[in-house]
Amino acid sequence: MEEKAKIVLDGKTYEFPVETGTENEKAIDISKFRAQTSYVMLDNGFGNTGACKSAITFLDGEKGILRYRGIPIEQIAEKSTFVETAYLLINGQLPTDAQLASFASSFTEHAALLPDMLNFFKAYPKDGHPMGLLSSMVCSLSGYHPELLKPDLSEEEIQLMAAKLLSKVRTITAYTYKKSIGEDFVPPRDDLKYISNFLHMMFSTKDKEYDRHDAVVNALEALLILHADHEQNCSTSTVRLIGSSWANLFASVSGGVSALWGPLHGGANQKVVEMLEEIQAAGGDIHKFIEKAKDPDDNYRLMGFGHRVYKNFDPRATIIKKRCHDLFETLGIQDPLLDIAVKLEAAVLKDDYFSERRLYPNVDFYSGLIYKAIGIPTKMFPVLFAIGRMPGWIAHWKEMKADPRSRIGRPRQIYVGLNERDYVPRDQR
Ligand code: ACO
Repeated sequence: MEEKAKIVLDGKTYEFPVETGTENEKAIDISKFRAQTSYVMLDNGFGNTGACKSAITFLDGEKGILRYRGIPIEQIAEKSTFVETAYLLINGQLPTDAQLASFASSFTEHAALLPDMLNFFKAYPKDGHPMGLLSSMVCSLSGYHPELLKPDLSEEEIQLMAAKLLSKVRTITAYTYKKSIGEDFVPPRDDLKYISNFLHMMFSTKDKEYDRHDAVVNALEALLILHADHEQNCSTSTVRLIGSSWANLFASVSGGVSALWGPLHGGANQKVVEMLEEIQAAGGDIHKFIEKAKDPDDNYRLMGFGHRVYKNFDPRATIIKKRCHDLFETLGIQDPLLDIAVKLEAAVLKDDYFSERRLYPNVDFYSGLIYKAIGIPTKMFPVLFAIGRMPGWIAHWKEMKADPRSRIGRPRQIYVGLNERDYVPRDQR
C-alpha cells in the first residue's frame, strides 16, 4: 500500500505522499501542501527541506558516507583524477579512454582568456579579494558568448560551457594571483594536464619554469576531487535557485562563487589558517580559544569545526588530514600551525561542549594547511574551493534544467511586520 503522511490542522486530516530515495531516504511530498491547507512550512535554513530529487551525490551525515554517482569518495580520491571526476559528476558515468581524452582536450582548447578579458585584471584592485574578481569574471563570460544564453541549450552547448568554465577558472585564478604579486601572466601550456597547468600558470615565471613535485600535484588533485560536489549545500542551492529562473550557466555559477565566499561555507578554509595564526601569535594557548568558542555570550566559533549534515565525522576531513601529514612528511615541511591544528583537534574531540553538539573537524580544517604548504596565499583558499566545486555546480544546473518537474524557486515566508497603517506625510512625522 502506498505510504501516506497525515497532518491534522484545524481538526481536518490531510494526506501527503511519502517519497523514498534509492538509499531509502524518506520524504513527505508537500508540493501541494499550501494549495490544500493554506498553511506554509517554516524551515529556517532549510535544514529539513528537500528542494529537489537528485541523482548526483549521496551523503549520509550520520554514517559519514559520501558518494559521487554511487562511487565512495574514498575510492575516487585514491584512484581518480579531478578531470575524470568532473566528467563523472556532469555526465553520470565514468568516461571511456576516448571520452576522457576528448573531455580533457576541451580544457586545453578553452584555457586561454580572450585579450579583452585581461582588462578585468587591470581594473580590479591589486589587493581586492580574489573571490570578487572570480565571481565577476565567471558572470562576464556570458558577455562573450551571447549564443549560449538561450534557455534551450543542446547537450553539445552545455558541454562547451562546462569546458569553458572548468578550464578558464584556473587561468582566472592564476592571473589574479600574478596580478596580486605584480608578476607577468604566464599563459597555459597545451602539453600539461589540468593540475600541472594550473600550478604552471600560478608559479612559473617568464624566466623560470615551476618545478612541479608529484606530491604537490597529487595533494591538489585530491583536494579538488574532495570538493567537487556536496549535494544541496549553500552555494549549489544558490546555483540551482538562480538557474531555476532559466538564467544561464555562467550567471548561475557566478552566484555559486559568491555564496561560497562566506566564512561559514567555502571561506572557512581561509579563516582556519587565520585562526591558527592568531592562536600562534597569542602564544599557542588553544584552550583560551576553545573557551571563547564555548562562551554563549560570544559569537566566536572555531573555524573548521561543525557541519550542517555530518554529525559524526566528515569523510573528506579524514582523507585530507592524512594527505596533509603525507605532504608535509614528503616535502619535509615543518609548520608550527600543523602542530597547533593537531592539538586543537585533539582537545576539541575530548571536550563535552563539542561532542554534545556533534561538532567535528570538517573538510576545511586541514585543507588550508595543504594550500599554504603549496604556496597559495591565504586569501586564495576559497578560490581553490571554487575550482573544485565547479563540476558539482555544473552537474546540478544541468540536472535541474533536464528535470521536467523543475519550477522557479520561490520560497514563502511568515510575515511578522507591522499591520496595515496609513502613510504619514513628512511634515506630520
Ligand atoms: N565553534 C563553536 N560552536 C559551534 C561551532 C563552531 N565551529 N559550530 C556550531 N557551534 C555551536 C553553535 O553555537 C550552536 O550552539 P548552541 O546550540 O549552544 O546555540 C550549535 O553548535 C549548533 O550550531 P548551528 O549554527 O545551529 O549549526 P549549523 O548547522 O547551522 O551550522 C556550520 C553549521 C555553519 C558549519 C557551523 O558549524 C559553523 O559555523 N562552523 C564554523 C565554520 C566552518 O567551519 N564552516 C565550514 C563548513 S564546511 C563547508 O562549508 C565546506
